[in-house]
Amino acid sequence: MPDDTTSTPYGRFRQTTVYTTGMLTGETPDVPASYEALKRRAAEVLEGDAYDYVAGGAGSEATKRHNRVAFEDYRIVPRVMQDTAERDLSTEVLGQTFDVPVLLAPIGAQGILHEEGDLASARAAERLNVPYVCSTQSSETLEDVSEELGETPKWFQLYWSEDRELTESLVSRAEEAGYDALMVTLDTPHLGWRERDVSRGFLPFLAGDGIANYVSDPVFRDRLAQPPEENERAAAQEFVEVFSDPSLTWADLDWLASQTDLPIVCKGILHPADAEQAVAHGAEGVVVSNHGGRQVDGEVAALRQLPTISHRIGDDATVLFDSGIRRGADAVKALALGADAVMLGRPYAYGLGIDGENGVHEVVENFLADFDLTVALTGNDSVSDIDRDLLVEA
Ligand code: FNR
Repeated sequence: MPDDTTSTPYGRFRQTTVYTTGMLTGETPDVPASYEALKRRAAEVLEGDAYDYVAGGAGSEATKRHNRVAFEDYRIVPRVMQDTAERDLSTEVLGQTFDVPVLLAPIGAQGILHEEGDLASARAAERLNVPYVCSTQSSETLEDVSEELGETPKWFQLYWSEDRELTESLVSRAEEAGYDALMVTLDTPHLGWRERDVSRGFLPFLAGDGIANYVSDPVFRDRLAQPPEENERAAAQEFVEVFSDPSLTWADLDWLASQTDLPIVCKGILHPADAEQAVAHGAEGVVVSNHGGRQVDGEVAALRQLPTISHRIGDDATVLFDSGIRRGADAVKALALGADAVMLGRPYAYGLGIDGENGVHEVVENFLADFDLTVALTGNDSVSDIDRDLLVEA
């Protein structure tokens, strides 16, 4: 439960707060409730390059569109008279209890959106007790982000560097900083061709944002001729050289699994055979995701692959989902199609850009309220009751 709402459901609490405030004082929420309005506001307040970095996708951005259209392919068929007075939105993921089946997705370079970057997002996550996935490319160090998260479930997203020692170092730092799981992103051996960023000649890392975990790392520092404090540009350039390892194959995952006791979840899985490979090579789960359409143009919608992947590995492994989650009904559909939990991405990044910690808090609080009410209004009182019977194809 968020903040001080110990016995009040997310939806009713949020509704009461905004309606009472609105009717008594005439004040409306600072952050738009609709995703479309949120995005428009972000476009107004952010610098063009920062906004485009978040909003953009690979190539023609067809994948981004497919992600949304796929949700329209399913329609919800609610049940009535089901006693939904009390809801339990909690769920077990990799042995941890989450209050809600929602994580904040790893988003790098948040410093371009707000001066407090990940620290602001982590504080909002902590206030709502929503699990947070810290990117390798966070704008603040993973240790500082962990501090802000306190007892909130926290996972570390790994970009697997071609320097094995650096990868080992990042993993052991994540373990020491108290992260509960490792989410290794596999769909980014190369950065996708993002026309907006190419047109602007903009890459945040080269401006020094999103490389905090590298410049603070002893292995990375050893690679540099001069300390990053003396030559930031060379450090940023070295990051670009070393952040990924395009030569990886599934056999390498066994090595990663041998490096850590943390459970491993593979992010960026679309093919059912890859989901099986991930589990065969030591992963305890996957994230069905196309990186929000940022990597491959003309790609299949992530949602479309979810049922098959869930069917293939869902009994033995955790299946998470992201790419296109905007509202409560989207999360309900993804859960109905076999996800154990979903990740929220761009919406909270826009909230961060609009109003820092408060912006993220508002976006996530609205999202959870909407989700809670949708669960209830579809006739469910617990997340585990949501299944395929809730949906028909459009
Ligand atoms: C991302 N994403 C991402 N993924 C990851 O594994 N590591 C990262 O550092 C980042 N960074 C990042 C930055 C920005 C600006 C965006 C928008 C996305 C992908 C992210 O985790 C998630 O997969 C997508 O955001 C899901 O798509 P939607 O729902 O946000 O459209």
